[in-house]
Amino acid sequence: MSKSILILASGTGSLAQAIIVATQSGQISGNVIGVLTDQPEAQVVAKCAVLEVPIITHPMNSDRKSWDEELFLITQSLNPALVVSAGFMRILAPEFVSTFKVINSHPALLPNFPGAHAVRDALAAKAAVTGATIHWVDAGMDTGKVIAQREVPVLEGDTEALLHERIKIVERGLIVATISDLLASMENNHE
Ligand code: GRF
Repeated sequence: MSKSILILASGTGSLAQAIIVATQSGQISGNVIGVLTDQPEAQVVAKCAVLEVPIITHPMNSDRKSWDEELFLITQSLNPALVVSAGFMRILAPEFVSTFKVINSHPALLPNFPGAHAVRDALAAKAAVTGATIHWVDAGMDTGKVIAQREVPVLEGDTEALLHERIKIVERGLIVATISDLLASMENNHE
């Protein structure tokens, strides 16, 4: 049976797009049941419309606890085999990450440069090499077990935007390959 994926995204959505295209072409044997965003105006919304994937908007409100509870209920009702945080700029609640299988893509070689400014931090630290990490999400900030990593060299004259775009090229390939492997291993384990 085809495994279902729920993507969480807040921004441009190029990672979400790569995952959706890979499911539609058969590179990932699974299907994206929807993309949930906390940013109704984000570019990912238009991308989903073009790709004909349902978008679920769940904007942040002043009551963070109720937002977390609703996210939990939405996800529970969709019952995904895998939740993929692909540029989702929110910390997920402990109950969420202990209930669902959640992975995240991070634009650095964890444990180096966790947090929301990983590319800027790598440049500021004058790192010669940074990269991309796909990891399980736990209750911490980018602290979950690493699944896959790939290096990206920092080049002379790199700006945050230039370096981030090169890392994102690597992230897109790595997240697609990782999801494909994870779904295949779930299939073999009859999960
Ligand atoms: C990626 O670099 C991701 O690791 C980071 O935000 C970026 C998302 O890019 N958290 P996009 O919105 O998928 O284009």
